[in-house]
Amino acid sequence: NRLPFADLDTEARRFVDPTQVRGKVTFYRIVSEVRRVNFHSQLPDTEIWGYRDGTVLAGQWPYALGPTFRRPLSNHNEFVGTVVRHENQLPTVAEHRGFGEPRTTVHLHGAHVPARFDGYPVNMTLADGTPFNVTFESGGHFDYAYPLVEPGFFTDGNHGKHTERACTLWYHDHVLDFTSQNVYRGLAGFFLLYDNPQIDPNDPNGAALQEHTRDTGDETNAAGNPFALRLPSGAFDIPLVLQEKTFGLNGELVYDVFNTDGFLGQYPLVNGKVQPFVPVKRRKYRFRVLNGSNARIYQLFLTDRNGRSYPMTQIATEGGLLARPVRRSSFLLGMAERVEVVIDFSAFPAPQFGELYLENRLRQDDGRGPSGTFERPETQSRGTQLLKFVLEETVPDPSQVPAELRPFTATTAAEIAAARVRTFEFERTNGQWAINGKLAGDLASPMASPALGVGERWRLVNKGGGWWHPIHVHHEFMRVLRRNGRLPFDGTGPDLGQSVERDGLAKKDTILLGPNSEVEVYVKFENYRGPFVFHCHNIEHEDHAMMARFDVV
Ligand code: C2O
Ligand code: CU
Repeated sequence: NRLPFADLDTEARRFVDPTQVRGKVTFYRIVSEVRRVNFHSQLPDTEIWGYRDGTVLAGQWPYALGPTFRRPLSNHNEFVGTVVRHENQLPTVAEHRGFGEPRTTVHLHGAHVPARFDGYPVNMTLADGTPFNVTFESGGHFDYAYPLVEPGFFTDGNHGKHTERACTLWYHDHVLDFTSQNVYRGLAGFFLLYDNPQIDPNDPNGAALQEHTRDTGDETNAAGNPFALRLPSGAFDIPLVLQEKTFGLNGELVYDVFNTDGFLGQYPLVNGKVQPFVPVKRRKYRFRVLNGSNARIYQLFLTDRNGRSYPMTQIATEGGLLARPVRRSSFLLGMAERVEVVIDFSAFPAPQFGELYLENRLRQDDGRGPSGTFERPETQSRGTQLLKFVLEETVPDPSQVPAELRPFTATTAAEIAAARVRTFEFERTNGQWAINGKLAGDLASPMASPALGVGERWRLVNKGGGWWHPIHVHHEFMRVLRRNGRLPFDGTGPDLGQSVERDGLAKKDTILLGPNSEVEVYVKFENYRGPFVFHCHNIEHEDHAMMARFDVV
């Protein structure tokens, strides 16, 4: 299923506009709606469910993706609040036909927010009798207040230490049992978080954002900003979401509701287009790559037309910048994982290199996970070219990749030794997916109740079977302590992530568990009590019960 690289990839840079700025709080309105979009110029238009920027009229958001947010973190000098009103204008539950469930709840994936704003999957009553109503249907809305504050913001002693940093988040639907179908129908978008010591709170668009952020910094103006790392910024900082779709004869989205292994689409998409191209100057770019697929795991290479591959420089994981950049020949990317890379296109001179590709070389035939072996960089086998970079002229490049990106306060050995250990086993039982033998059900009771501000070690164990499970824990980032089940992470094959996880200097919110493997992480839940969930981010597994509730107490 190959179509030509016909369409320009620009969607993920469509930034959202605020509806108003009141004091230091910026308000946004996002509408979930039915609309028609074009995934490829050689395909008919397709009806999807998508998020629209509420400041534009219905019919005027032709994109498959929701608008991209760019928000600063507050710090102790400056509070900058973010409130997003999500409105549901999908069909009513009674009117609706076909797959999906037009009942919504929105999760800001990777964010550290109070339970009420976390996109919990289902309405319920809390133990103390308080109603916890978080889903909304056609005609309804929900206001999400995101604190998004830097470490050290709360100083009243009650709040512990925040762990947020500039990073690449995304938002998507999270309704119980139907997340896979709703996300596949289109309910997803990017949310980029910047650290920002000097934000102008009256700048509603955050236009000045990148100039005043440590993470990117204005690459042209280092002198004026001592914080700037001068990573590629502005037009040279591009989010890329990888997804898959299958289209019917009339362009309609095709989905298989009986596939509980995980749905793979026929066509690979980047930023809402089938195999698009993007023109690039011969200079450095930052790409924020998100695996937004339902069940596809990627091993990503930068390749030329002859199938030769070239290393990329990794600068970040889900939780933002690494301590130091790492050169890597490929990236294994499970669902919901993010990797940020810098590619220097000036290293590819004309006329030899007219184009390069982001290529997936991991073979996967069903939702169980990869069926092939991991490719080594020296093999020149052909995978699927997901995105074509069309190389243009050489331009001056004031950006840099500093040797030190971000200081980390490493968890001490004593803290790790003192942490309580919990074990969670992920397995298949009777055609459903269970955690510690339990199905998600209606999430009526918590599987664990970690204490606020007390670190824990969670052993995530993939028990039996040939399936892969990317495990996502809400509320906090994790630090990987140990990867057991050594295959394929035994160091003899390609570097599949160990190099950045080794020192604990990477923050992860999703951990990819290969068959029969075990990963131990350190996690400390801070600031917010209440019910949250963790689950497999093969979203068909999630919807077929591989999810559990934990209450921070
Ligand atoms: Cu991206 Cu609980 O999900
Ligand atoms: Cu799974």
